[in-house]
Amino acid sequence: MKITAIILAAGQGTRMKSRLPKVLHNLCGQPLLSYPLRAAMTVSDQTPVVVIGHGAEEVQKAVGSMARFAIQEQQLGTAHAVLAASEQVAGHTDLVLIINADLPLLTAQTVERLVEVQKRNEGPLTILTACSSEARGFGRIIRSEDGNVEAIVEEAQATPEQLALGELNVGVYCARDDWLWNALRRVEKSPKGEYYLTDIVQIAVADHLNVATVPVSELSETVGINNRVHLAEAEALMRRRINQRWMEEGVTMVDPQTVYIDTEVRIGRDTVIYPNTMLKGHTVIDEGCVLGPNSVIEDTQIGKGCHVIASFLESAIMEDGSEIGPYGHLRKGAHLGKGVHLGNFGEVKDSYLGPGTKMGHFSYIGNATIGENVNIGCGTITCNYDGVKKHPTVIEDDVFIGSDTMLVAPVRVGKGAHTGAGAVITHDVPPETTVVGVPARPLHKKSTSE
Ligand code: UD1
Ligand code: CA
Repeated sequence: MKITAIILAAGQGTRMKSRLPKVLHNLCGQPLLSYPLRAAMTVSDQTPVVVIGHGAEEVQKAVGSMARFAIQEQQLGTAHAVLAASEQVAGHTDLVLIINADLPLLTAQTVERLVEVQKRNEGPLTILTACSSEARGFGRIIRSEDGNVEAIVEEAQATPEQLALGELNVGVYCARDDWLWNALRRVEKSPKGEYYLTDIVQIAVADHLNVATVPVSELSETVGINNRVHLAEAEALMRRRINQRWMEEGVTMVDPQTVYIDTEVRIGRDTVIYPNTMLKGHTVIDEGCVLGPNSVIEDTQIGKGCHVIASFLESAIMEDGSEIGPYGHLRKGAHLGKGVHLGNFGEVKDSYLGPGTKMGHFSYIGNATIGENVNIGCGTITCNYDGVKKHPTVIEDDVFIGSDTMLVAPVRVGKGAHTGAGAVITHDVPPETTVVGVPARPLHKKSTSE
């Protein structure tokens, strides 16, 4: 059976008080809109249609090829919004799944249950409901004495008795395609001047057609985002969910309340995460690592058995058994080979450090290619920038760089060479040679004339 999802995201989100469209606000490293999109893509293999209006261009740019788009020029209500997608959807599917874009905690499993119930429903429509004493402005589900759904009443139009009802409309619907579109055209303007999607319930009931309901599995799924307080609530709930999932997968968190993991991050078993650690973006961590305390790791790949202590890593790679910290900084393009040791106050940018290389203390390495088993002494600096351009430094295998060496790039230090403490390297150093001084020269045996 063909299922196509329509995600309603044209609203302004006035209460966010933001230049950014509501659905692009960030939740655990992803825009809000990506969550219903993900849920939709789990239950359907058709590309979802996102209805956009406010900030349409920005939203479209952020979502990219994950979805198709339908423009709702004027925000005349949720029924009107669904109709904007009719050209792309009507007649091309069996079931239409409609999801409000501001429900990021909705799970794919719940959406799946909704679809399954509609597949078995004789009637044309199934809606997702939640029972809660906290209504949060949601529409109320009205049932007849025999328990059948009769209508959804919006809070603004509800009577005091209806307001007291504890069964709420979550904002997720599954309808038969051959029924939906005509029903939407029959929706009349509400007293508030909007066309309410929720009115299709009464339309089905008037035609003696069955409307089925599916309750959410967990109330937290219904947390909608209308302002930044809700956004923070959703963030806390989502974070707890993410941490729980990784703990179930074999990751230890000494204090999960202080661990922040973005949605897209992946972590291997037996990794231990200490407090105040953030794993952001598309970070991938392999097995048996020790991360934190006090580390921020963004868009970085970390191999097996690595250690990161009190350090900041962005767009970097650490291969198996490498370590950094405390107080290390890997910037974009930093790549530590197997077993590399980076101690305190080291910064690496756009550079490769070969296997077994050690850089214990206070160094800056930028635009460099460094071989295997190199020792980089305390205070070493690649002087890679001449004020206009960046220049490369190459250090071959088994080199010993003495403390406080300045490598004035472009420059190459040959295999097995040594530099003396405080050397300023302005010319290439041949292999197996020791250079000292400012500017550095090869160290000769004392000449007899002296
Ligand atoms: C809606 C439901 C309400 C439900 C609640 C739960 C209606 C009439 N009411 O109310 O019963 O309890 O969701 O989530 O549907 N949108 C458009 N175009 C529009 C208007 C809205 O695309 O013209 C989008 C919004 O961007 C949003 C979604 O539809 O993502 C829901 O709209 P919103 O205004 O938030 O509806 P609620 O008042 O929350
Ligand atoms: Ca809403």
